[in-house]
Amino acid sequence: MTAVRSGTPGDATAIARVHVAAWRETYPGIMPESVIATKTVGDRETQWRQWLATPHLSVFVAERDADIVGFAACGARRDPPDVALGEVFAIYLLRSHQGRGLGRALFAAVDRDLKRRGLHPYLCWVVDGNPATAFYERVGGRRFLTQRADIFGSSIVEHGYIWSDEAPG
Ligand SMILES: CC(C)(COP(=O)(O)OP(=O)(O)OC[C@H]1O[C@@H](n2cnc3c(N)ncnc32)[C@H](O)[C@@H]1OP(=O)(O)O)[C@@H](O)C(=O)NCCC(=O)NCCS
Repeated sequence: MTAVRSGTPGDATAIARVHVAAWRETYPGIMPESVIATKTVGDRETQWRQWLATPHLSVFVAERDADIVGFAACGARRDPPDVALGEVFAIYLLRSHQGRGLGRALFAAVDRDLKRRGLHPYLCWVVDGNPATAFYERVGGRRFLTQRADIFGSSIVEHGYIWSDEAPG
């Protein structure tokens, strides 16, 4: 049985484990090894405890037989802060659970949440070379910007995707 539900403070450790595992599965060859290695379960756990306790930041988890196998997080844009624009901060599944519609289900939860809170349009950043760009296009995102960003001290090319009601241009 798979299901998507809202995250709770008690999910921090399980989400952190999935986060680190999914980073290690996703980013070799896409991000420098030194950047991948900065993510540890301990520091991700701290981050997720904070995020799960932050009002206006929504977290969803995907479960398979009561085990967390993926997660998504969204809220108002952080950088620069913008209370009218939404952002999908993260959406990750363990590789063993990809390609079965769970990403679409997590994304639907995020989309509903951001629209309900008036955080629409919303955007998402994807590192260059990540095949997830095809997923974002499939669920209605439009690439609007490519830029260099400092990610854990490395200069990395990333693509911005936006979801809005405007016709693609
Ligand atoms: C990106 C991710 C969340 C997508 O979740 P998923 O469960 O694999 O995707 P789904 O099975 O729900 O697929 C939804 C649609 O996107 C398409 N899609 C998903 N991944 C794709 C890919 N890599 N290439 C092409 N199309 C893809 C599917 O074909 C499907 O289309 P359809 O519904 O029309 O058949 C998941 O693959 C993942 O966690 N990847 C690693 C982490 C990551 O890179 N996250 C994004 C960080 S910015």
